Amino acid sequence: MKTNTLPNVTDFSGTILIPVFETYSKSIVPITFNGLEVTSKVFFGKKDTHYLAEKNNNTYVFIGLGKEIDYKSLKTTFRRISSKQKENFSSNVALVIPEQFTHDHVEAMISGLLLGTYDLGHFKSDKNVHPFLEPVFSLNLVSEKDYLSTAKKGIKIAKAQLATYNLVDLPPNTVNPKYLANWAKETGEKYGFDVEVLGYEASKIAGLGAFLAVGKGSENEPQFIIMNYTPTTEVEHVKHVGLVGKGITFDTGGLNIKTAGMLHMKCDMAGGGAVFGAMQLIADLQLPVKVTAIVPCAENSVDAKSFLPSDVIHSYSGHSIEIIDTDAEGRLILADGLSYLIKNFKPEYIVDIATLTGSSVGTFGYECGALFTKNTEMAKKLQENGDAIGERLWPLPLWDAYKSDIESDIADVKNYSGKPVAGAISAAKFLEYFTQEHKAWAHLDVAGVAFGDDEFAKSKHATGYGVHLLTKFIENL
Ligand code: BES
Ligand code: MG
Ligand code: ZN
Repeated sequence: MKTNTLPNVTDFSGTILIPVFETYSKSIVPITFNGLEVTSKVFFGKKDTHYLAEKNNNTYVFIGLGKEIDYKSLKTTFRRISSKQKENFSSNVALVIPEQFTHDHVEAMISGLLLGTYDLGHFKSDKNVHPFLEPVFSLNLVSEKDYLSTAKKGIKIAKAQLATYNLVDLPPNTVNPKYLANWAKETGEKYGFDVEVLGYEASKIAGLGAFLAVGKGSENEPQFIIMNYTPTTEVEHVKHVGLVGKGITFDTGGLNIKTAGMLHMKCDMAGGGAVFGAMQLIADLQLPVKVTAIVPCAENSVDAKSFLPSDVIHSYSGHSIEIIDTDAEGRLILADGLSYLIKNFKPEYIVDIATLTGSSVGTFGYECGALFTKNTEMAKKLQENGDAIGERLWPLPLWDAYKSDIESDIADVKNYSGKPVAGAISAAKFLEYFTQEHKAWAHLDVAGVAFGDDEFAKSKHATGYGVHLLTKFIENL
């Protein structure tokens, strides 16, 4: 995609997008642009409305912004325009930038436009080509100011989010652990981060017993994916962030087979998907921070070889775990992911992200992720960065009063309290047990926000939650 700046659209031909703030509907002053007049009877910039006009071979799309704008609604508005007005898009697009827009607003608009090219019909024989996807597409920013680097950033963000949409929405018979390992290797090669993958044998030698227990019932070999991004720019004290993402490519529940909601469980690698997208984006933006990311990938399946409820397994940390429920599998692979990260890489900050519990959905619904950390500075930064882009987080406690939920008689710890209360919190307490009292660890339970319903499809699909949040958090550390 080519981007450049135009001072006006006098000599432009193609599609012209004109964002318009809401004016009074009975205004006698019409909205005018390039000699075109739109009377306020038909269009006055109301949010979620648009108005199309043709003149001199140009298509004008007036886009209603409402009275106030924020990052997320702006992004959605432009995603909608590009997704639902495809037929009105030529491969030459001019985007008029209102004077009062900030760089963040421009970033949101451009990311949204690109996200609108996403087509969920991965396996449809008549997959449509969106003009934006054509090899040579040019986006002309109409402004007196220079927004080019912002535009490029908006494009990079959307490309990373699109990558995550693909990984999460593709079915589990395509996206298995090996697929994710190959994706990581190819993307690392392309964007500039190192990738190491431990398959079954290597994981066994390493002692990743909790990780391997989960994958035992599947035909698809588990893959423990380790990614390392090292900035090329010289920085005096380079910060080091560790990320861990849950990469369950499908969660049947295992022998404690799911009775509800199994259909959607291809989304159970969405935490890992967010980490993959974030790694692409961090490398693409060449952020001056060192990042080590681990995504343990496995399928939780039903088989004679599956791990059993009441099994005692041996984790990488050396601690034994009693399995109360095989459907509490995410915390097992994350336990090994966290221990491996801390032991081998010792990052200063750690964030893990996972579609971990139905309980977090019960608590917050689809509005925010659950945030767990004892580090108040990290909590603040994660929340602030999330708020700025509409990926919200809200805290839940990590009080030791909940510790008894994971105390086992036979082993060091158990993977589930067995009680249908405080599920997200006891899962977080379980993870905490494997963090060696790390002073800057945060856990994000994103079961309610990583995959959901919206206006862009008939069924639930990936939201890309976490890609931008993790990247922005790291960028602003
Ligand atoms: N993958 C699920 C959690 C989940 C629920 C993700 C809804 C996305 C949407 C997780 O592995 C799970 O099964 N959790 C159980 C844990 C329980 C058995 C302790 C749950 O939350 O019910
Ligand atoms: Mg489960
Ligand atoms: Zn799961």
